[in-house]
Amino acid sequence: MAAYPAWDEDGARLIVASLSHLEGATLPILHALQDEFGYVDPQAVPLIAETLNLSLADVHGTISFYHDFRTTPPPPRLVKLCRAEACQAVGCETLVEELAREHGIVVDGPGSEGRGAVESVYCLGNCALGPSALVEGELLGRVDADRIAALCGEPR
Ligand code: FES
Repeated sequence: MAAYPAWDEDGARLIVASLSHLEGATLPILHALQDEFGYVDPQAVPLIAETLNLSLADVHGTISFYHDFRTTPPPPRLVKLCRAEACQAVGCETLVEELAREHGIVVDGPGSEGRGAVESVYCLGNCALGPSALVEGELLGRVDADRIAALCGEPR
């Protein structure tokens, strides 16, 4: 569950080209773009239309028909990091220091534009597998600073 990379026209072009031979390629292309970037940037529309010889309206129509497609970047993640006793015993405070020192992420800090934030919580009921974190409803065990930073993504 890594953070998504920023939209990248060349990367998108490669994805479109690699799937354009498929029958009914629009949907597989849209899914692949969303899997890669977390959303389908409006810049993809002319790219897909041109490659598949469709109108812009056709591509727009497909995107808007299926509600699963996002056309804006997903909101930054909120990572809840456990700092209660059992997780302290296995290094969560060291993790907090490493996040600040090596990744510039201040736990319970203001966060930065477009980047996920980390918030302290006190016991996630996953004490045997600490340090523990909760991200989008998913409980993670034995996390380290690199993993938390990857979940937060790069500042945009
Ligand atoms: S103390 Fe961290 S999950 Fe319980």
